[in-house]
Amino acid sequence: MKTVICNWKMNPKSFDEAKRLFAATKKLSLTTKGTDIVVLPPTIFLRELAKSYRGVRIEFGAQHVFWEQEGSHTGDTSPAQVRDSGATHVLIGHAERRILGETDAQVRMKVAASLELKLDVIIAVGERERDAHGEHIQQVREQIVTALADAPPARYKNITIAYEPVWAIGAAFAPDAHEVHQMMLLVRKTIRDTYGERAFKLIRVVYGGAVNKENAEAIFAVPDLDGVLIGRASLDPTQLESIIKAAQ
Ligand code: PGA
Repeated sequence: MKTVICNWKMNPKSFDEAKRLFAATKKLSLTTKGTDIVVLPPTIFLRELAKSYRGVRIEFGAQHVFWEQEGSHTGDTSPAQVRDSGATHVLIGHAERRILGETDAQVRMKVAASLELKLDVIIAVGERERDAHGEHIQQVREQIVTALADAPPARYKNITIAYEPVWAIGAAFAPDAHEVHQMMLLVRKTIRDTYGERAFKLIRVVYGGAVNKENAEAIFAVPDLDGVLIGRASLDPTQLESIIKAAQ
């Protein structure tokens, strides 16, 4: 089963628009079988949208989370609060959070705190840029190894790694299918080498960064890819429809 993760980021501007976008997403989900859709709206819209939904094809998640369950942390949201809102997923370590200073060590704590509450975690990893010496490979490896360091093996089934090269996020073009495949192999090999066979079998791996209706088919043809994480395309029902079709 392929997953399409819709990261709305800080969109849309009002709850009315969010309701309309969700209604369009819901309509598309009804016409599709065999594809999981995870919607990550702004946290402030999360509870109401989750509450309004009675179906089974869409799941909800937050776009980021803190590593404590409660306390004096102004402006933050805890895994316990995410759970209480009706969400089942949380995205951790997105490039747009890392750029504001989120570190690998913080990602590790957030992953552990979220798994403790049995949330499904989507851990975003990816290099800022590539260089001829392959430094980016080491960077991605480190992000994965650190993020999973405190993940209990019993929760491996709740983990998805989203490989998202930072240079492709918000860009016009995604890497080609061959490059995506190479990095999928690297992610899976890193998981296996560091955390063993069980982790390798259970942890899912998706691709994100400039996925759109033009390249979705080629990306879904990449072997061993469990899904995609989409930003801009999740805000446009025409784009989303083509991507869901490609997933099937
Ligand atoms: P994009 O964003 O699809 O707009 O490139 C992807 C992401 O940030 O995950």
